[in-house]
Amino acid sequence: MKRILVTGGTGYIGSHTCVSLLESGKEVYILDSLTNSNKTSIDKIKLIFSKRNIDISNKLHFFKGDLRDKEFIDSVFEKIKKQGNSIDGVIHFAGLKAVAESVNYPLQYWENNVIGSFNLFKSMLENNCKTIVFSSSATVYGNPKDELLKETADINPINTYGSTKFTVENLLKNIFETKTDKWNVAILRYFNPIGAHVSGLIGENPISKPNNIFPLIINAAYEKNKLKVFGNDWPTYDGTCIRDYIHVSDLAEGHLKALDFLFKNNNQLINLNIGTGKGYSVLDLIKTFETVNNVKVPFIFSNRRDGDSCKLIANNLKAKQLLSWYPLKSLEEMCLDGWRWKLMNPRGYS
Ligand SMILES: NC(=O)c1ccc[n+]([C@@H]2O[C@H](COP(=O)([O-])OP(=O)(O)OC[C@H]3O[C@@H](n4cnc5c(N)ncnc54)[C@H](O)[C@@H]3O)[C@@H](O)[C@H]2O)c1
Repeated sequence: MKRILVTGGTGYIGSHTCVSLLESGKEVYILDSLTNSNKTSIDKIKLIFSKRNIDISNKLHFFKGDLRDKEFIDSVFEKIKKQGNSIDGVIHFAGLKAVAESVNYPLQYWENNVIGSFNLFKSMLENNCKTIVFSSSATVYGNPKDELLKETADINPINTYGSTKFTVENLLKNIFETKTDKWNVAILRYFNPIGAHVSGLIGENPISKPNNIFPLIINAAYEKNKLKVFGNDWPTYDGTCIRDYIHVSDLAEGHLKALDFLFKNNNQLINLNIGTGKGYSVLDLIKTFETVNNVKVPFIFSNRRDGDSCKLIANNLKAKQLLSWYPLKSLEEMCLDGWRWKLMNPRGYS
């Protein structure tokens, strides 16, 4: 049985990935500072399994602490070693992710995302753990020329958040290229993860004000305040931006497949786009949400936002071919599951 350290495992994507890892029989060690999450997500993960009469209490462990503190990371590896175990691989989610905030607080973003990752990789090496899946983002492509993005597209981040992600990608590339140590690295560039676990027990629980579209749609539908749609004059079929939305549970499965690929194929560095390959406009998303959930999403159009791209869709062929991973859930399911999570947890985990 493989033992996996999941940094940021109480967060949105991390918690869904923990479910996938546990379903596949792995033992999970979460490391999280809880800066943007809540420990209740761990109880909810346990509940998902207890409802299926599966006891995972001795397969899911939690360490509260910050990646900026290397001694803390070392102590986690040490405690696991003292129990006679070792970590086989790491999935590294922990970091800050709000684009606008990153522009206002660059030092915080570089410290959390880059120094935190640096400490983690150093501690991994010292503990002879050299298999890692890293959460990167389509943001690294900036404002691309092509609408359907391949992994070979130009990398040109246009904000601090994207720059920190690309720096960590480069750090991993340099580490991989050393002759002495044989690392296994998967860099996953996510497109737009939305939705929630089908049980309605775990989902996105932003502590600060969200600035991505889906939680804002949910809030508009729930609180009846008007959602701002940025621009209705884009050169698309309905004038609104087009994005590649992916169900968070499909994304979670992608991590599991990437990790298993690294365990089977030694000394690899792979970069993969994780999206569905299908684009939907903001109006498509709003209309689908309204139709499947039978609820109104009040909205108004406002001016385009600086730095937004017109169309971002993943070419996901590489992930499909290499990992035999296929996104299975439709936009309708993303909207149904996201709304179910909101209705079952109107105030998130709090
Ligand atoms: N959600 C998205 O739309 C999206 C898109 C592309 C990439 N990503 C990346 O995926 C990862 C996970 O995103 P998410 O949406 O689950 O975010 P999230 O905020 O829900 O989860 C991140 C977790 O990391 C923890 N954390 C942050 N800084 C930490 C630190 N220094 N030490 C320890 N823990 C720390 C937070 O408490 C949180 O639980 C992030 O790296 C993010 O940049 C997310």
